[in-house]
Amino acid sequence: MSARENSIVADMSLAPAGHLKIDWASAHMPVLNRIRKQFEQEQPFKGLKVSICLHLEAKTAYLAKVVQAGGAEVTITGSNPLSTQDDVCAALVEDGITVFAKYNPDPEEFKSLIVRALESKPDLIIDDGSDFATILHGERPDLLVNIRGGAEETTTGITRLKALEKEGTLKLPMVAVNDAYCKYLFDNRYGTGQSAFDGIMRTTNLMIAGKNVVIVGYGWCGKGLAMRAKGLGANVIVTEVDAIKAVEAHMDGFTVLPMIEAAKIGEIFVTVTGNKDVIRGEHYDVIRDGAILCNAGHFDVEVNKPELAERSTGKRTVRHNIEEYQLKDGRKVYLLAEGRLVNLAAGDGHPAEIMDTTFALQALSLKYVNDNYQSMGAKVANVPYELDEQVARYKLESLGIGIDTLTEAQKKYQDSWS
Ligand SMILES: NC(=O)c1ccc[n+]([C@@H]2O[C@H](COP(=O)([O-])OP(=O)(O)OC[C@H]3O[C@@H](n4cnc5c(N)ncnc54)[C@H](O)[C@@H]3O)[C@@H](O)[C@H]2O)c1
Repeated sequence: MSARENSIVADMSLAPAGHLKIDWASAHMPVLNRIRKQFEQEQPFKGLKVSICLHLEAKTAYLAKVVQAGGAEVTITGSNPLSTQDDVCAALVEDGITVFAKYNPDPEEFKSLIVRALESKPDLIIDDGSDFATILHGERPDLLVNIRGGAEETTTGITRLKALEKEGTLKLPMVAVNDAYCKYLFDNRYGTGQSAFDGIMRTTNLMIAGKNVVIVGYGWCGKGLAMRAKGLGANVIVTEVDAIKAVEAHMDGFTVLPMIEAAKIGEIFVTVTGNKDVIRGEHYDVIRDGAILCNAGHFDVEVNKPELAERSTGKRTVRHNIEEYQLKDGRKVYLLAEGRLVNLAAGDGHPAEIMDTTFALQALSLKYVNDNYQSMGAKVANVPYELDEQVARYKLESLGIGIDTLTEAQKKYQDSWS
């Protein structure tokens, strides 16, 4: 069956707009362009099927096309119901990629679309937040048959894969793309920092300067968010559970408070912990009237929505992607994008230049798994340092930036114990 006959997308007539978006993104992804040329010549995935589950927007679409250029038959699905862009999906179908994705399907359909992408019986997978891995290790182990291994995009997915590995139940070699330097140093920090505030600002059309902005979690993403909030003129407050990260936030010049105190004064809250219930009932009991809540962590469990609903007499949509909850004592709390990733569900995700290096790591990691899966075992593997360095070098070259190299005498000096 052709990609067009097999795919499930919202509307094929949107394809021209999708092509324009993909063209714009790819024009700003020089590292991936270089890898595409390499793949076209070397055909590393010739005759193989690759299934991809990622936020389905233009940059991801270009990664799918690069994998396709390497000889693969590609199937793709979305990793979040609100981040899928229907025009991009239609364009990919025209380009011969099978797509199972729509914007905002109900939870049952969303899951069924992910399963459909696995039913193509892929040889390799690219996963985000372990959506594929959860199905493969839960209800559909039969779909593991052909899979050699894959690559996982984000912190939350790697945590889940490591839990499976610890239990001894992981069935695949998976490369932890998130743990590469070229991922978390740039994507989590600079990407999330910029794109989350882009999502917040375009959704609310409100000022950041002068506001008390609470960043919940001071990990790689949290550091980027706090840095950007400060640059935009906010009074930045950080909440943490890790003493070392809390000291770091303090030394970086931010106010550190427990959430129960931050809740009383915060005006905009951004959760980014990978954990659940970081804003919950007890915090809603004291939260400042008019507080705006949003999440940049992978799942929509960081802001506890059931406990917010329990304390509310009603809710209404006051702007696209903004729900107003009316608390019983008259205070109002606003939730952006249903508590899903604000940069993707209410924005366009990371800038193309950021996804350029992240997806370059994805493409090279997928090739690495395919070349080495027989010796890797069912483990979570790091991205080899050479791949990480290769991506950084390609990036520097694309920017026209040169660096020094060690002289022989320097190498000898560094390697000598005396
Ligand atoms: N929005 C995006 O585009 C994007 C990009 C990359 C990663 N992510 C997601 O963002 C989340 C965070 O990723 P990261 O790389 O920063 O992880 P990280 O592990 O570096 O940081 C998470 C931080 O949250 C803290 N934390 C945990 N529970 C907390 C609580 N109850 N209150 C306050 N702090 C708490 C941890 O101590 C840690 O410092 C993950 O879910 C990841 O998948 C999102």
